[in-house]
Amino acid sequence: MSDALAALRARLDDLREQARSVAAGVDRDADLNEGKARFLGRKGAFGPVMRELGSLDRAQRPAAGALINEAKQAIEAVFAEARARIEQKALDAALEAGRIDVTLPGRRSAPGATHPVQAVLDELVDLLVELGFALADGPEVETEHYNFDQLNMPASHPARDMQDTFYLQGDLLLRTQTSPVQIRAMEDTKPPVRIIAPGKVFRCDADVTHSPTFHQIEGLWVDTDVTMADLKGVLSYFLRRLFGADRGVRFRPSFFPFTEPSVEVDVEFGDGWMEVLGAGMVHPRVLRNVGFDPTAVQGFAFGLGVDRLAMVRYGITDIRYLFENDQRFLTQFARGR
Ligand code: DAH
Repeated sequence: MSDALAALRARLDDLREQARSVAAGVDRDADLNEGKARFLGRKGAFGPVMRELGSLDRAQRPAAGALINEAKQAIEAVFAEARARIEQKALDAALEAGRIDVTLPGRRSAPGATHPVQAVLDELVDLLVELGFALADGPEVETEHYNFDQLNMPASHPARDMQDTFYLQGDLLLRTQTSPVQIRAMEDTKPPVRIIAPGKVFRCDADVTHSPTFHQIEGLWVDTDVTMADLKGVLSYFLRRLFGADRGVRFRPSFFPFTEPSVEVDVEFGDGWMEVLGAGMVHPRVLRNVGFDPTAVQGFAFGLGVDRLAMVRYGITDIRYLFENDQRFLTQFARGR
C-alpha cells in the first residue's frame, strides 16, 4: 500500500474512532442528528477527504474510494446503532411511566338509586291505581284559565294570594297545583271520571317545609253517587296502607275554592302532625264549568303533597334535603349496597 493510501486509511480510522465516541455520548435525537451531520453531512468531515481524492494518483483512486465508502458505511452503522439505543430507552421510559399496578383496589362506581320522592310517588300511584284510579296528565306550563278560573278562583278571588305564582308571558304561568288536570280530565270524559294526576308544581316559596318545586298527586272521582263518606273511606284506607293502622290520621275542616265542604288531612309526625293532603267535595260551580250537571253527578277531589309524604315516610325533617341532591343524603336510599 502506498504511503498516500496508508495515510488516508489512518485518517479514516481516526474519523471512525471519533464518530464512535460521539455516538456513544448522545442520548437525545437532536444531538444524534447533529453529531451525525458533523461526519456525514454536506459540510461534514468527509468533504475535505473527498477533495483530497483528486490529488491522488489516478491508479490509487479506486482503492481510496473503496476505503472511504467502507468508512462511511461503518459510521452510518455507528449512528444507526445509537438511534436504536435512544429509541429503546424512550420506549423503556414510556413503559415504566405507564405501568399499571393491577393489585391496586379498583374505584367503586356509585350506581344511581331511585330518589326518595320518586320512590314514594311510585308507591302512591301503585296504591291508587289498585284502588281503581286511572292516570291522567296535564302541562306544567298552564294558563290562568285552567290553573285558577275554572277552579272557581277568579282574578279577584283572595285565594289566589294563597299561592305565590310564577307568572310567565301573557296568561301563562307555572302551575301552582295539579288541580287544573281535574278540569282537563272532566273536559275530556263524560262521568264517571276517576283519575289521578301526579306531577311537579311550582310556587315562589322556600323554607323548611316549602320548596319552590314540589310534587302533588291530584285525585278526582266523579259519579252519580260518590259521597263524603267515600272521600273519608278512600283516603283513610290509603293512609293506613301507607303508614300502618297505628299511625294517627286526622281530618280537619278547611277551605278550598274548588271544593265544598273541604278538609285537610294530617298524619302524626314526630311530636306533632304533618299536613299531607287537601280534599273535598267538588264544588258545583267547578262541575258546571266543565258542562257537568251538579244535580246529576257529584264527587270528591284530593291533592296529595308527595314530598311531605316522603318526609313522613323516611323521617326527613327538612324538605330541602329532597332537592339538594347531596350524595351523602341520597345514597342512604340506595338499596342493595
Ligand atoms: N290544589 C290544592 C293545593 O295545592 C290541594 C287540593 C285541595 C287539591 C283540595 C284538591 C282538593 O283536589 O280537593 O293547595
